[in-house]
Amino acid sequence: MRTVVEAPNGALVALEADPAGAEDARLAAEAGLVLVREVLQLRCNLPLERPSTCRTRPFRAGADEAEFLRVNNLAFRWHPDQSDWTADDLARRLAEPWFDADGFLLLDDEDDGDDEDHDEGILAFCWTKVHPPAGTDPALGEIFVIGVDPTAHGRGLGTEMVRAGLDHLAAQGLTVGMLHVEADNQPALRMYERLGFSRHSSHQWWARPGSPVPAAGRG
Ligand SMILES: CC(C)(COP(=O)(O)OP(=O)(O)OC[C@H]1O[C@@H](n2cnc3c(N)ncnc32)[C@H](O)[C@@H]1OP(=O)(O)O)[C@@H](O)C(=O)NCCC(=O)NCCS
Repeated sequence: MRTVVEAPNGALVALEADPAGAEDARLAAEAGLVLVREVLQLRCNLPLERPSTCRTRPFRAGADEAEFLRVNNLAFRWHPDQSDWTADDLARRLAEPWFDADGFLLLDDEDDGDDEDHDEGILAFCWTKVHPPAGTDPALGEIFVIGVDPTAHGRGLGTEMVRAGLDHLAAQGLTVGMLHVEADNQPALRMYERLGFSRHSSHQWWARPGSPVPAAGRG
């Protein structure tokens, strides 16, 4: 899909392409446009070689909303689509026909003490989404959103949470994992490459220099 915006004189002022190719880049560059956002689609084969070591549990509607929003908004505070989510933003996704609480995995921040009722909140989440076959694509098991509380980054939790999501998807018979990631999100890209993901396609937005970063409208 290629969407173009032209000025009244016919000059190209914005271009969006998914999947983007060399011809899109050529057209945009000729018009003096710059790449303002690139989101990569990565895929991997399922199941992975080894399962997750994380003890996750499913999202509980009516109980986990506030903790999810806290961690999501901290982890994604820089993100064009995923930042500043409100309770309404979350409620809308929870009401989607594809929503499955068993595929929305949370990692509790467990207290090491004796108090079993002690609730420390959550450290991380991995929300999955299943896409039925479409066109030439097989059924896809998506890592829809993955986030770790920034105070716990770099401890291996992100990697194990993605594994947990992929384990859940593979257990449903899915053989292809998929996700979207900003092309400049280096920590996430490194994590996904280590897990065996590779680039499938690229969604690009080109605009005049200084233009705001556009929303992707995904999910
Ligand atoms: C991406 C994210 C989930 C990784 O979680 P994590 O628990 O820190 O990940 P891990 O500890 O398993 O580390 C994964 C890799 O990222 C690296 N990494 C983690 N934090 C990093 C940082 N701030 N800067 C650079 N690299 C970082 C780790 O070193 C590791 O790479 P290595 O194996 O080469 O050392 C986490 O950074 C996060 O929540 N980011 C914000 C939300 C996000 O970007 N989600 C992915 C959207 S597609």
